[in-house]
Amino acid sequence: MSERCTRRRFLRTSCLSAGALALPGMEWAADAWPAPELPFTFVQICDPQLGMVDYEVDKARFAQAVRQCNALTPDFAVICGDLVNGPREERIADFNRIRQQLKSPCHCVPGNHDVGLPPTPEYLARYRARIGKDYYGIEHKGFTFLMVNTQLWKSDLGQESAAHDAWFEASLKTARAAARPIFVVGHCPLFTERPDEPEGWTSLPRPVRQRLLGLFEGYGVVAMVGGHTHRLVVTDYRGIQIVHGEGTCNNVDGRPLGFRLWTVGSARPYQHQFVALEPQTPAIPERANGPR
Ligand SMILES: [Fe+2]
Repeated sequence: MSERCTRRRFLRTSCLSAGALALPGMEWAADAWPAPELPFTFVQICDPQLGMVDYEVDKARFAQAVRQCNALTPDFAVICGDLVNGPREERIADFNRIRQQLKSPCHCVPGNHDVGLPPTPEYLARYRARIGKDYYGIEHKGFTFLMVNTQLWKSDLGQESAAHDAWFEASLKTARAAARPIFVVGHCPLFTERPDEPEGWTSLPRPVRQRLLGLFEGYGVVAMVGGHTHRLVVTDYRGIQIVHGEGTCNNVDGRPLGFRLWTVGSARPYQHQFVALEPQTPAIPERANGPR
């Protein structure tokens, strides 16, 4: 009953903003709100990128993020790509060893440093064999989380990109039919400043972006979370929250290292707060100041 109420509330608000895809026969019932399974929390970790700054320091910082995440006891964690700085076997092994120390479920997506820019068949195969699926969905307390491989949007890889697109649209339709609000979890932002900005290193090609934004709006995406920017990017597209967070290994905007804790309740926009790594050290040894 409570989950049904959550869905009814979502459908009412979503249908108002995306009337073209409103489902017939759905209407608001003001009963038993908020649903008792809300709020829930999840953690957004970005760009551990082991090997980007200093290998031992990058590992220590990611491990510190994991320890602090465990102390917060979120429902789950998402790691928004660039897990390692180039998918060498030893780096993937260290990443897996540290992430396995997370006490909550952990859901990863690939970044450009995991699968290549453009992705290569070799790196995609390695990711799928050593990390897991590069795109998939989970359901959690009335919400759908779609973990996407933004690198298959950033570059057109023919059948690989087509299969990803088909899965994504089918997943949106399934979530919509079940009246589940949708979070998209990826790596590369669709845009960073404005929806019509030119494609750049940190954004998707404009035609791809416009198609995706139309799908987001039409099917009830409520937020996209990602990484890649190494700086905090908080923006919005017609009420859809877009947050690309601080990294655990390096930021270019002077922000401290850390991650974000989201609280998903009955009201939008959903709240998210920065959790700084404590301490911000270990410092980078002068002798090893550079990628390994
Ligand atoms: Fe990246």
